[in-house]
Amino acid sequence: MRVRKAVLPAAGFGTRFLPATKAIPKEMIPLVDRPIIQYAVEEAVASGIEQIIIVIASGRSAVEEHFDSHPGLESWLEERGDIEMLRVVRRISEIGPIAFVHQKEQLGLGHAVLMAKELVGDEPFAVLLSDDVMLNPGGKPVTEQLIEQYQAHRGSMIAVQRVPRDDVDRYGIVAPLHQEGRLVEIDDLVEKPSVADAPSDLGVLGRYILSPKIFDKLETTQRGAGGEIQLTDAIRALSAEQPVFGYQFEGVRHDAGTRLGWLKANIAMSLESDLADEVRAYVRSLDLRD
Ligand code: G1P
Repeated sequence: MRVRKAVLPAAGFGTRFLPATKAIPKEMIPLVDRPIIQYAVEEAVASGIEQIIIVIASGRSAVEEHFDSHPGLESWLEERGDIEMLRVVRRISEIGPIAFVHQKEQLGLGHAVLMAKELVGDEPFAVLLSDDVMLNPGGKPVTEQLIEQYQAHRGSMIAVQRVPRDDVDRYGIVAPLHQEGRLVEIDDLVEKPSVADAPSDLGVLGRYILSPKIFDKLETTQRGAGGEIQLTDAIRALSAEQPVFGYQFEGVRHDAGTRLGWLKANIAMSLESDLADEVRAYVRSLDLRD
């Protein structure tokens, strides 16, 4: 079955970014020149996704407004003759059909994904966590890589990469059964284990292709790590019934979900942008001695 739909959760409190996220969701924080979530939406579309479902917190409209048209701004840009920016702004609202669903209570990532159950229906779907910004210049987008693997192996597919041993408690961690090339057969998964308890250093990064059966599992998943309903726990339950694989994707992941990761991502990504020369000159000019 084709993977046509993608769910992008954007309803968390963004506690790692407070107070910046008091009034706006963390997905609206910009990276270079666009909000973090726009990179994930663009990746989904470039991967062949036809329907995007964004889960937002009730009463929070910034993400919805960002992907809506803005006639006032558009006519102002048109009058000023700023056709280039007009194109940029229009392209955002023409990106494709985006549906919004509300999460009334912030009960965790798994619960956020569950909110999309009716819109996804009975078909496999992608999940993209936008604070993992995945870039693969010149190659296939990470979501597309996972979709291809899903088609080839007929099992749910999770993006994995090795993470520093000391950081395993920030991730879902996979216990591999067997690895062949980039494909990892998963024996077990655990959300945010302690360094001592981690079954490996293979971390789950925010891209998934999931069987719709995950919704049954999410409905019965109890609160886990951090008191939240965890997607990882539901995938663990799914893996007892259906094949679940990890895929060591090609590409670079920027962690825009922490302050330091976000700062690094801004520097790295601006060095790939039209600002590159000026950023390089600025960084060189800094006195970096302790
Ligand atoms: C979420 C997932 C976790 C995954 C991580 C990747 O955690 O629950 O399994 O490893 O994203 O970024 P969060 O960062 O939302 O705490």
